[in-house]
Amino acid sequence: MKLLKYTFLLLALTFSIRCQQDNSASAPDPKADPHSFAQPNEAVTKHLDLNLKVDFDQKILSGSARWTIENQGASEIIFDTKNLNIERITIGEDEKETQYFLVDPDEILGTALRVQIEPETEIVTIYYSTNPDAAALGWMEPSQTAGKKLPFLFTQGQAILTRTWIPCQDSPGIRVTYNATIQAPTGMLALMSADNPQEKTADGVYQFKMEQPISPYLIALAVGDIAFQPVGPRTGVYAEPPMLEKTAREFADMEKMVEAAETLYGPYDWGRYDLIVLPPGFPFGGMENPKLTFATPTVIAGDQSLVSLVAHELAHSWSGNLVTNATWNDFWLNEGFTVYFERRIMEALYGVEYVEMLMQLEYWELLDEVKDLGEKSPDTHLKLDLSGRDPDDGMNNIAYQKGSLFLHLLEQKAGRERFDAFLKSWFEQNKFQAKTTEEFVDFLKKNLLEKYQLDVNVDEWVYGPGLPANGPVPVSQKLEKAEAAADAVSEGQLPETKDWTSHEWVHFIRHLPESTDVETLKKLDAQFNLTNSGNSEILWAWYETAIRRGYSPEILPKIESFLVNMGRRRFLMPLYGAFRETGQLETARRIFEKAKDGYHQVSRGSVEELLLNDER
Ligand code: BES
Ligand code: ZN
Repeated sequence: MKLLKYTFLLLALTFSIRCQQDNSASAPDPKADPHSFAQPNEAVTKHLDLNLKVDFDQKILSGSARWTIENQGASEIIFDTKNLNIERITIGEDEKETQYFLVDPDEILGTALRVQIEPETEIVTIYYSTNPDAAALGWMEPSQTAGKKLPFLFTQGQAILTRTWIPCQDSPGIRVTYNATIQAPTGMLALMSADNPQEKTADGVYQFKMEQPISPYLIALAVGDIAFQPVGPRTGVYAEPPMLEKTAREFADMEKMVEAAETLYGPYDWGRYDLIVLPPGFPFGGMENPKLTFATPTVIAGDQSLVSLVAHELAHSWSGNLVTNATWNDFWLNEGFTVYFERRIMEALYGVEYVEMLMQLEYWELLDEVKDLGEKSPDTHLKLDLSGRDPDDGMNNIAYQKGSLFLHLLEQKAGRERFDAFLKSWFEQNKFQAKTTEEFVDFLKKNLLEKYQLDVNVDEWVYGPGLPANGPVPVSQKLEKAEAAADAVSEGQLPETKDWTSHEWVHFIRHLPESTDVETLKKLDAQFNLTNSGNSEILWAWYETAIRRGYSPEILPKIESFLVNMGRRRFLMPLYGAFRETGQLETARRIFEKAKDGYHQVSRGSVEELLLNDER
């Protein structure tokens, strides 16, 4: 038996060497995904029947993934896995046991699972379980939830984490439909990126169906003490019961957002659009899981001031979920388009002045990012080359901000009417497909630039570094006023803030002059109680300023509680970074020790690297 295994291993190895040679001989194919072991031209997954039991005590999912595949007469099919326990694998309806090999372990990509199949094989069933430290899985203790009584589980697939909870061909260029049966503990609700239940079942068993083909990074699951409340005919919110009312109030405009989006770029193709607010350990602001956006509770400000996040995740229903980046090198096709689309939805609902504020705020983030990465850095290109790297490392603000700015430039050049028709046709003609940057550039030239004889430096924007000189520069009068108010602080003047939104506050705080001293910060705090703001973006800006200007010792318990009670990476990194850069590494490390168990691995890993790596 052993000998047989070694022979197969040898065979597998020679096969893999042959493949590598084949690849290097030809020009790189932009559709080839450097972050997946799958060889979809040989055998490709089409449909998943997932059957999993959720064990909160052991922090394990166990069961089976039954894949229906399209097989070109191949003798093996390759899946991506990472940190999974594979128990056995069968082929066909009659579940004939088959051989498999876990080969090519790679720290970033995980391990290729090579399964022997027959030329006619159409079904492959993998029996497996996850590990408690699976990177996609956020296992929250009861103490880390709003209700404090029951634990909570959520998954995060993007970019290459789905392989840590489902053996799959984990490439955005591959699409699958799925059905799932999830056995949760009784008394809990399970939800997926699929048709969802609105009430708990008596036995904790839930059935799901996702009938439109989606990329594996969009397969998602949440399990907890969750309740539902509708906000419109096809929109609603899920949250833990103590959060449900305020969640529904905060996101009351969801239905209007879907309507605005449809008016812009065509019908919403996914049936319902719901949103779930997760526990504060969720590492992102939002994640566009189809039919069910996952969101951080830190966007619930009480005054709807941070709902652009919903517009963003909703926009992904077109840019990303319908037309998907072929590989993570084309990430800007997902995020740049989505930021542009998000702003158009926000403009339709709240007016152009509001969007000008959002745009100018984010423009500052773009300038910072270009400065941080270096103007010549290849990481500032829209089209990336992330091979050999963790895609998470290369996916920065550039895709979002430079990407959206490029679309704003195209809109300026073509005029809104033409540009909207163009974008709509991009979505319509490419729906349920993966697209490369090169394909978009072709489409752009044919359907916009040549058609209307427009001259745009496309290559400089897409394949070049930094920020091209002809980029639109967003200006917001409201923010300029806030900036002037920040300058006036150095003359002892307190700002006139009556109609300020949180965006003006954030801008004001970020533009306080270098010379602003602790006494002045104290005065501002006494007047406006910024340290106890209910708005997470204001807290974030204020705490960073406090740390950098020497005010943090006085309000340290508040900063500490902010860092301990939420795990959103966008907030964590700059705050820990500010401690580090101002010689307060010990404080940062002490807080991190206390906080880290509540963070999802995605955030924990990033902060750990920042604080524990002395070489930086
Ligand atoms: N798809 C992203 C989140 C993401 C990106 C997860 C890359 C993993 C890898 C999502 O749509 C997003 O962009 N979220 C933002 C908020 C948004 C309003 C800009 C976030 O989480 O900060
Ligand atoms: Zn996004």
